[in-house]
Amino acid sequence: MLKKCLFPAAGYGTRFLPATKSMPKEMMPIVSKPLIEYGVEEALQAGMSDICIVTGRGKRSLEDHFDVNYELEHQISGTDKENLLSDIRSVIDQCSFSYTRQREMKGLGHAVLTGQTLIGDQPFGMVLADDLCINLGGPGVLAQMAQLYKQFRCSIVAVQEVPEDEVHKYGVISGQYISEDLIRVENMVEKPAKEDAPSNLAIIGRYILTPDIFDLIHDTQPGKGGEIQITDALMAQAQRGCVMAYKFKGERFDCGSIEGFIEATNYCYDNLYT
Ligand code: G1P
Repeated sequence: MLKKCLFPAAGYGTRFLPATKSMPKEMMPIVSKPLIEYGVEEALQAGMSDICIVTGRGKRSLEDHFDVNYELEHQISGTDKENLLSDIRSVIDQCSFSYTRQREMKGLGHAVLTGQTLIGDQPFGMVLADDLCINLGGPGVLAQMAQLYKQFRCSIVAVQEVPEDEVHKYGVISGQYISEDLIRVENMVEKPAKEDAPSNLAIIGRYILTPDIFDLIHDTQPGKGGEIQITDALMAQAQRGCVMAYKFKGERFDCGSIEGFIEATNYCYDNLYT
């Protein structure tokens, strides 16, 4: 039912300079696989094979990654190196990819609105590739959320408890607990100060969004940091109808920070590569 997944990938990744000076941050590898490829695999596992990527200047290697490289593939064909390409080949075979460019960085909400042309009028998943989510031996976070969507048919955000002194880095929600891991959102604030945070439940980069979100973003005024925030549009959606927050099963690594990136690398090396 959910076929499309949006990947906003136009941001600069300044925290990883100089590595990201000419390379998209989404191409930073955790062990030997770029971050965005983990995200696309997660989307595929959730049944979303139409991958819609919002890119920007200097991001062309993303498109090349999800395409064949004849020269290289010819060169290693028949050697034992060929199996290093088996994961990416399988992703390319199973997915279709479309791209649009965000010309100006006006916030995550603006990036989502830019993606409307690829998504059209249907519910969709969204992955922020620098949040790496791994659920060893179980369904990925997006697959868990897609399952919930079947039941609730409304937008869903993934949340996790974070220490109080970290709430200022996230969209933060509060609301009514429907079950142990599911909350009907009543309040949502983008990057609040510790004193203003409605709880310590932080949104992480996995969303299911219903298409009415586009009109809501359209009507959303610039918020935190002077940017159009998806969190503000989701708050409007929660007030009009329903938005759920889901405490997912699995590990999440903030690969937009050096510490999270190193942690993810060690975790993946230990659990996925050895
Ligand atoms: C974005 C969202 C924020 C969310 C976070 C998750 O912020 O605006 O609500 O908590 O992603 O990673 P960013 O990290 O892009 O500043």
